[in-house]
Amino acid sequence: MNRIFSGIQPTGNLHLGNYLGAIKNWVELQHQFESIYCVVDLHAITVPQDPVLLRTSTIEVTASLLAAGIDPKQAIIFNQSRVPQHAELAWIFNCVARLGWLNRMTQFKEKAGKNRENASVGLFAYPALMAADILAYKATHVPVGEDQKQHLELTRDIAGAFNAMVDEEFFPLPEPQILGQATRVMSLRDGSSKMSKSDQSDYSRINLNDDADTISQKIRKAKTDPDPLPETMEGLNDRPEARNLVTIYAALADCSSQEVLTEFAGKGFGVFKPALVDVAVEKLAPVTSAMRQYMDDQSYVLSVLDEGAERAHAIARPIMQDIRERLGFLGHSLG
Ligand code: TYM
Repeated sequence: MNRIFSGIQPTGNLHLGNYLGAIKNWVELQHQFESIYCVVDLHAITVPQDPVLLRTSTIEVTASLLAAGIDPKQAIIFNQSRVPQHAELAWIFNCVARLGWLNRMTQFKEKAGKNRENASVGLFAYPALMAADILAYKATHVPVGEDQKQHLELTRDIAGAFNAMVDEEFFPLPEPQILGQATRVMSLRDGSSKMSKSDQSDYSRINLNDDADTISQKIRKAKTDPDPLPETMEGLNDRPEARNLVTIYAALADCSSQEVLTEFAGKGFGVFKPALVDVAVEKLAPVTSAMRQYMDDQSYVLSVLDEGAERAHAIARPIMQDIRERLGFLGHSLG
């Protein structure tokens, strides 16, 4: 049986990278797979969080998922900390994963930066919690953006090591699904760095709650070059900013990058940027306005999370009990 699990952090605004790299695919996949989408508040606290903002962000991210078209009757949507099996399995995986495996994680190196000694142990162990998220449900498929690929390889390593330890094909080895045109959306200010929530400049990203004027301003100010667009994607090899905007256009318009170039070859950014503004506003405005409506009805959003947590717990609990038995833990967990 196929089952999808994916997660998103409730830290600040969701942006176009989250939307094109993950959420848009989740919306399509919910009809093909049993799908579990998780707002990962336990991951959020690997760096300091303000409790009031964390609660608000959890509601906002859930509202964005609903606004983007995830149907809570179809898919399960919940916040991670409500289902205790995530933390329980993460501990077990901390004892399965090797220090050397975690030491290789590039995202830890980026996030910890020079201040490595001062990073939380949780930030280092973050990928083991991610593996627990996925495997607590024996999920087989994980739709993510490209930046999560290394974490998913580690998940497969942990699943394999656990299976070897208990001498049984207990966990599936989950497949990453890195789908669509825009698996790595880059900053609008610098084509060599990823669009991210943590970039200091708000002009580097399009947020899902930006209004049409803001989207337009950000795209008009996006870094580009003076050359016209080429006829093929090879012509964009040394033009990361131009390539990024073409990719974003293709992903939003649901066409290929080549089709975009066929339409705009020979034209400069004076023509291309306004066209990109039109397609971005057309595709994002409905999501933004639906999100506002959900934020006006927060009791509904909370009820979705309540129901999702119960459905998720009903799946994870018996799997966790099987794990406890394999390891020799006496009795049932009370969680
Ligand atoms: P997070 O919250 O950073 O991002 C959520 C999803 O958005 C994708 N993404 C991007 N895709 C394309 N271009 C970008 N610039 C971009 N920025 C973000 C991410 O790849 C991700 O799919 N560790 C995860 C959350 C997580 C998780 C999991 C994911 C926790 N447990 C289990 C899958 C399965 C994270 O921090 O994603």
